[in-house]
Amino acid sequence: MRNIVLIGFMGTGKSAVGRRLAARLGREFVDTDEEIERVTGKTIPQIFARDGEIRFRSEEALVVKKVAARENLVVATGGGVVLNPENVRALQQNGVLIGLVADPGVIYQRVKRKRNRPLLNGPGDILARIKELLAARAGAYAVAEFTVDTGRHTIDEAVEMIIAYLK
Ligand code: S3P
Repeated sequence: MRNIVLIGFMGTGKSAVGRRLAARLGREFVDTDEEIERVTGKTIPQIFARDGEIRFRSEEALVVKKVAARENLVVATGGGVVLNPENVRALQQNGVLIGLVADPGVIYQRVKRKRNRPLLNGPGDILARIKELLAARAGAYAVAEFTVDTGRHTIDEAVEMIIAYLK
């Protein structure tokens, strides 16, 4: 069975929906960020702070390659995974890419108090940063073949919509 791969911006619910979708389908769940933390023994903010984003992206690409070689998984990707065309190709070979989206204001409410996302935790206005990154990445997220708005649907609804789409 092909992997079900959730893509989308930070705070769109990839991990929450992915976990529940995997439980609902009896599949193994893999979160690429958790996997990066496991193999490096560092948190995502530590990797960004100590080694830089370029190093993070290469660790991410290694994890994506491994995950893409497996099957029957539900995969939650980090928000930047689809920026690398090689990652997209690898994930598409054995998986269906499902996009999660939400309005900038919804994303802001979900991420504002967390300190675990280095790309949003810089100086300045977080909402403005979210809008700027969303605009820059719109094309990258368009590789999804089906998309669910998690600002307008609950986690359970999103799970059922994805299952219905895949039938
Ligand atoms: C990133 C998203 C994060 C994490 C890292 C970079 C991004 O994952 O991979 O902070 O570039 O959008 P989430 O989408 O799970 O927050």
